[in-house]
Amino acid sequence: MAKSVTDFRPTVSAATSPDPAAGTPEPFSAGLTYCSSTMGLGGSDMYRQQILDHYKSPRNYGEIEDPTFTHVGENPMCGDTIEMDVVLDDEQEHIERVAFRGDGCAISQASASMLSERLHGMALETLESMDRDDIVDMLGVDISPMRIKCAVLAEKVAQDGIEIYFGEKDLDMTKTEDDDADVPDDVQ
Ligand code: FES
Repeated sequence: MAKSVTDFRPTVSAATSPDPAAGTPEPFSAGLTYCSSTMGLGGSDMYRQQILDHYKSPRNYGEIEDPTFTHVGENPMCGDTIEMDVVLDDEQEHIERVAFRGDGCAISQASASMLSERLHGMALETLESMDRDDIVDMLGVDISPMRIKCAVLAEKVAQDGIEIYFGEKDLDMTKTEDDDADVPDDVQ
């Protein structure tokens, strides 16, 4: 039987929330400039618009009642998080459903939204074989070394969640720092 998903809008961080005392509220997209503007990203306008669309209208955002497992991850550079509920099929070989919620920049939240669409029906071995290049291809824009942690956060949460569920990893929370040994210190 299908499990229900409770949808709710993403949280706008304090830095991007309109300040009632400041008069005219900022448009929702104004926060992108502060947190992770898409203006600095390489790639076509179409892909930048796609990222903005997923950020402002994230797919599969919410909670799943009684998921197979839930896992959370953090980008330690900023403290932004992604929490993901996953339902596996009866054979425990494919992902049946995914829902996520989170707080973070356009890249991290759009990446989670776009990945959530691809995860539905995905074989677990396919997920396990994904790497940062797959995420960059999915986003369709050039991602600077500093932004890679944002981009791969959701992927790492999903992969670690699977490994923890099957007893292959012992971890309370995913942190993207372990994935970035090749990123120079001066850009972290
Ligand atoms: Fe926090 Fe991108 S700035 S995840």
